[in-house]
Amino acid sequence: MDNLSIIIPTYNEAENIVPLIKEIEIYIAEVKNFEIIVVDDNSPDNTYEKIQTFIHEKNRANIHVIKRTWNKGLSSAIIEGSALAKFNYIAVMDGDGQHDPQDLNTMFKTLISSKKDLIIGSRFYSIKMVSSLSSKRNLLSRIGNFFIRLVIKKELSDPLSGFFVAKASVLRENPKKLYKEGFKILFDVLMINKNLQIKEMQINFRERNTGLSKLNLAMGLSLIGQVLENYTYRIFPSSFFVFSFIGTFGVLIHLCILYLILAMEVNYIQANFLGTIGALASNYFLNNLLTFNNFHKTWPERFNGLLRYAVA
Ligand code: GDD
Ligand code: MN
Repeated sequence: MDNLSIIIPTYNEAENIVPLIKEIEIYIAEVKNFEIIVVDDNSPDNTYEKIQTFIHEKNRANIHVIKRTWNKGLSSAIIEGSALAKFNYIAVMDGDGQHDPQDLNTMFKTLISSKKDLIIGSRFYSIKMVSSLSSKRNLLSRIGNFFIRLVIKKELSDPLSGFFVAKASVLRENPKKLYKEGFKILFDVLMINKNLQIKEMQINFRERNTGLSKLNLAMGLSLIGQVLENYTYRIFPSSFFVFSFIGTFGVLIHLCILYLILAMEVNYIQANFLGTIGALASNYFLNNLLTFNNFHKTWPERFNGLLRYAVA
């Protein structure tokens, strides 16, 4: 049976998600049974409540929304969503309107007719520059894709894409290995199963409806970390590289503070003490924001953690 579970991760997409759901309902009308599973990470803009209201007002039994409050992150949201999916095919798409439901329809039909395991909606299959992305984002995506291709050794034009349709087993087989930080779920899928039958299709990557992209420095670093993880035969986890990078940066902070304060003719012990405090705080906060940014933490919790880290 050609049934489809559509997983949509959201963080602050209150204005975008209901219009997207309505569009999906129009364009995948041919699919007899489909469900939409939105996985929201406790968005402060009430994305969750917006969807709940829509579900109740319009009586939609095939739309589900879950709200996570402990862990967060795009990849893990998708894994949790696919664990709940009840159909044998799973689609993953963004909740901001950048992924076009008409493409979803074509990708799903192609998956069924081609008997492949995975159809990737590629931003760069037949074009080099995506007009809806800034030139900086175009460049970053292409560099990222280039390095990923080196690791996965497959000629894919967009292994970083967030838009794909697959047999449910592709996402469900190794949930533990897939449960990672960051944006690169498809890269993780490709690393875990090297024998997948894959087809790429050019998609119409649209402008974000409203709001901002959540892609940030932490995701970029963890992507570099993961490429290195794979180069070193997975002996060191991705976070080890980010952690080491921040540690090295901490040494620089320490030395800068030390020399600055020594220049003010303060004695060495005191200057060294302040340098240590500076490096400690920088290490702690950078690791919080970059290495372990997949945890929800309030500022009081962070200061509490810093104190305990300093004592340790
Ligand atoms: N649940 C959850 N938790 N959802 C999240 C989180 C999170 O921590 N961060 C982002 N999202 C949701 C957004 O709400 C959106 O629906 C989708 O994930 C993609 O996030 P965007 O912030 O719109 O990403 P983008 O447009 O910059 O990035 C696009 O390109 C990447 C490759 O460069 C997306 O297509 C990504 O999926 C893709 O990996
Ligand atoms: Mn987006």
